[in-house]
Amino acid sequence: MRNRVDLVEIGMWVTPELPRTLVDYLSKSRVALAVATATDDHHLLMVNDSFCALTGYSPDDVVGRNCRMLQRDAANDEPRARLREFLAEPRQASVRTAIINFRKDGTPFVNLLYMSRLRAIDGATRYFFASQFDVSRSQPDMLSEYEAQLGSTLARLAPLASDAGVVVEGTLLTIATSAATIAQAKMMLANLEAGGDA
Ligand SMILES: Cc1cc2nc3c(=O)[nH]c(=O)nc-3n(C[C@H](O)[C@H](O)[C@H](O)COP(=O)(O)O)c2cc1C
Repeated sequence: MRNRVDLVEIGMWVTPELPRTLVDYLSKSRVALAVATATDDHHLLMVNDSFCALTGYSPDDVVGRNCRMLQRDAANDEPRARLREFLAEPRQASVRTAIINFRKDGTPFVNLLYMSRLRAIDGATRYFFASQFDVSRSQPDMLSEYEAQLGSTLARLAPLASDAGVVVEGTLLTIATSAATIAQAKMMLANLEAGGDA
C-alpha cells in the first residue's frame, strides 16, 4: 500500500508512475486498455496485451507517445473534438465515441473508444484511462459482452486503486453505449467499408 506518487522517466518526460498494483491488474484484463498522463500531451504510460493484440503495436511502439498516432491521417474531426472537450473538462467523468484508427499493418478499423479519469483523493485528474473496442469485427452481442467485461474490470480496479490513493471514475452505467454512439459507429463502418475514412 502506498499513497506516494513516484516519478518515472519515459522517453523525454518525467511523469507520475502508475502504481504497480494497478499496472499488474490492468495488464491481465481481457479488454484492451491504455493509461495516459493527465499532464502535457497525455502520452501513454501503459497499454495491455489486449490493446497490443487489437492494434498490432507493442508497448515499446506506443508508450511515451500520444494515442492519436492510431488515427494516422484520418480526419476524425467530430470524434476528436469530443475527446478534446472531455480532456479539458474535469467535471466530465467519461466519454464514448467511435473513431477511425489503423493497426500497425495499416488496416483501418472503427474503434469504439471509452475514456474516463483516474483521480487523486483531492479530485484532481491523475491519469486518463481508456478502453478500445473494434466495432468492425464485432457482432451485436459481442459489444454487450465487452461492456460487461469493461464494467467488471473497472469495478475490481476500484478497491485496488483506492489502496494506492487513486479514485476510479466510470461505472457500468457510463460504459453502456448510447444508441447515438452505436449509430455513429455504424455510419463510420459503412463509410470505411465503402472505401472512405472518417
Ligand atoms: C488514455 C488515452 C487513450 C486514448 N486512446 C485512443 C485510441 O485508442 N484511439 C484514438 O484515436 N485516440 C485515443 N486517444 C485520444 C487521443 O490521444 C487524443 O486525445 C485525441 O485525438 C484528441 O486530441 P487531438 O485532437 O489533439 O488529437 C486516447 C487518449 C488517452 C488520454
